[in-house]
Amino acid sequence: MHQQLQNLKNEALALIMQAENPQELEDIRIRYLGKKGRLNEIASAFGNLASDEKITIGRQFNNVKDAISDALNSSKFSSANTQVAIIVDPTLPGIQPQVGHLHPVTQAISEISSVFEKIGFTRVRYPEVEWDWYAFTALNMSQDHPARDDWETFFIDTPEDPKLGKMILTPHTSNGQVREMLRIKKPPVRMVNIAKCYRRQSDVSHVPMFHQFEGLVVDENITIVHLKGTIDHFVKNFFGPNRKSRLRPYHFQFTEPSFEIDVTCDICDGTAFLPDKSPCRLCKEGWLELGGAGMVHPEVLKAVKIDSQKYTGFAFGWGVERSYMMKSGIKVDDIRLLYGNDIRFLNQF
Ligand code: PHE
Repeated sequence: MHQQLQNLKNEALALIMQAENPQELEDIRIRYLGKKGRLNEIASAFGNLASDEKITIGRQFNNVKDAISDALNSSKFSSANTQVAIIVDPTLPGIQPQVGHLHPVTQAISEISSVFEKIGFTRVRYPEVEWDWYAFTALNMSQDHPARDDWETFFIDTPEDPKLGKMILTPHTSNGQVREMLRIKKPPVRMVNIAKCYRRQSDVSHVPMFHQFEGLVVDENITIVHLKGTIDHFVKNFFGPNRKSRLRPYHFQFTEPSFEIDVTCDICDGTAFLPDKSPCRLCKEGWLELGGAGMVHPEVLKAVKIDSQKYTGFAFGWGVERSYMMKSGIKVDDIRLLYGNDIRFLNQF
């Protein structure tokens, strides 16, 4: 029986080596290791062996069985090996790692600063936790002036300063005008201040924290023409070459005259009507409101000790998120989406 097992092993191993496909391999498995296979045939004769023989032959039997099944498993046609081959298939396309990018508001901020830097503005940053004096009083708004109600301000629960008043979260970036003129002292001033603003508000077009960019130019002989030229430069470079702007009379305490700036609507191309003659749903009369602007009020120049007889200036302050949503080709109609942190939304930008 010893010899019989030895022959069987040699025979099976030789056949496994010669096998040419998975089917042949499977046939060999059945023929040798199957229920009615050659090994079990031998095992059925175990009963006739003496008990000490049973131990040695039993051990040999197991060795032969293991050798045959190892050889079957390590054959290149074995199903175990075929699976490994699939896992490392070098022809499969790779798995693309997730690549992050800057938040759309951060992208807008760097685009806005570069549009203004091209025409000589310097990007500055001023505090977002500020004294009342810089955000209101120096901007020609006395303590009890009703115009202050237009800025729904958050006040900070700290002691008041006798000169500078209460501490607030900046409700607009116009405090930057005051701080920059005090820093430069002697014009020319040409700055763009981009910062966070806070107001008590929340709906589809308002969030309590948003961003504004504030422009200020002060020099000799600055006129509305410079303001309009700067606006047009921004509108064409940021929104798109086909967009136009207009000034609409308005009121701010810190500019005189004051304007609101409108930009032609991207959806109806400034016509107020869609190609099928139906009215545009996005805009009023073909124009979208961008934000406020005007010529710096002499009282503001006085507050920062700049000679208003010699110097004039213009200023504007617009929302970053609002401007981004008005850009050609970007159709976001709910500002809250920008701050929802939904990766499916953010991935589109
Ligand atoms: N600060 C004004 C606002 O928040 C905008 C503005 C800035 C208007 C500069 C005129 C000049 O509405």
